[in-house]
Amino acid sequence: MTRHFLRDDDLSQDEQTAILDLAVELKKDRFAVRPLAGPQTVAVIFDKSSTRTRVSFAVGIADLGGVPLIISTASSQLGGKETATDTARVLERQVAAIAWRTYGQAGLEEMALGTTVPVINALTDDFHPCQLLADLLTIREHRGRLAGMTVTFLGDGACNMAQSYLLAGATAGMHVRIASPTNYSPAAVVVADAEAIAARTGGSIELFTDPADAVGGSDVVVTDTWVSMGKEKEKAQRLTTLDSYQVDAELMALAKPDALFLHCLPADRGFEVTAEVIDGPQSVVWDEAENRLHAQKALMVWLLDHNTP
Ligand code: CP
Ligand code: NVA
Repeated sequence: MTRHFLRDDDLSQDEQTAILDLAVELKKDRFAVRPLAGPQTVAVIFDKSSTRTRVSFAVGIADLGGVPLIISTASSQLGGKETATDTARVLERQVAAIAWRTYGQAGLEEMALGTTVPVINALTDDFHPCQLLADLLTIREHRGRLAGMTVTFLGDGACNMAQSYLLAGATAGMHVRIASPTNYSPAAVVVADAEAIAARTGGSIELFTDPADAVGGSDVVVTDTWVSMGKEKEKAQRLTTLDSYQVDAELMALAKPDALFLHCLPADRGFEVTAEVIDGPQSVVWDEAENRLHAQKALMVWLLDHNTP
């Protein structure tokens, strides 16, 4: 059976913990494990722009003894001339795994269906699960645990990061709060999935419209751009509607005194977060960005280990 990582809840709580444990080990000794020695190749496909994901996959694959094959969709046949299924059938005979940053979740699922190598979601419109592994690793490093902690995401509650926080946070047994205007709420089906997971793990899910109510007593405060890739035409409307969800020092002061601030980056200082907060003492965004490397390496090691074609 081939295990894929298309959504955060593709991993059970124990599996998520095992991957984070492995990430901690790989962070201590970057070259300890080399399952891609050969070298084997991993294809990393981008339909959208990227800095962190591109670099962390390329470096991570090399650290694991392999060769990264970075493909820009614009210069490939995928999308315009060839289906995701056909592309996967070509790639699976030559590469050990496929990571894909794309728009629709459906395309990613189509690629994974029947593919003999692991397919990894490197961001879709709906989810950004690799980022969540890095975020959870960062929170655990700084606070020692995940279960029982309260994490609050503010802003575009329908974006990939908010929805991934719901699923990954619930899987980790966290209390996940999303604060957004009602027309930027997470999808009802994702909220329902997260609630079902939280009922098993001891976590909880709460939706808010008032940012101050949501942040009160939080251990972790998170935001993301108000204009995700693909939403550029809605920029003016979004900047107006989401204005009151900015994370500033006043809002951070409502969280616990030692609350962490996370942002997956890239950030628009002065919009979703002030420079004072993102560049301030509670911000752990640079650890978070580095942890993409360690978390994804652990994920790849785990997926390769659980791939029994
Ligand atoms: N956080 C993140 O995924 O960054 P990139 O868009 O630069 O890959
Ligand atoms: N929500 C953002 C995340 C970027 C890493 C986007 O999709 O553009």
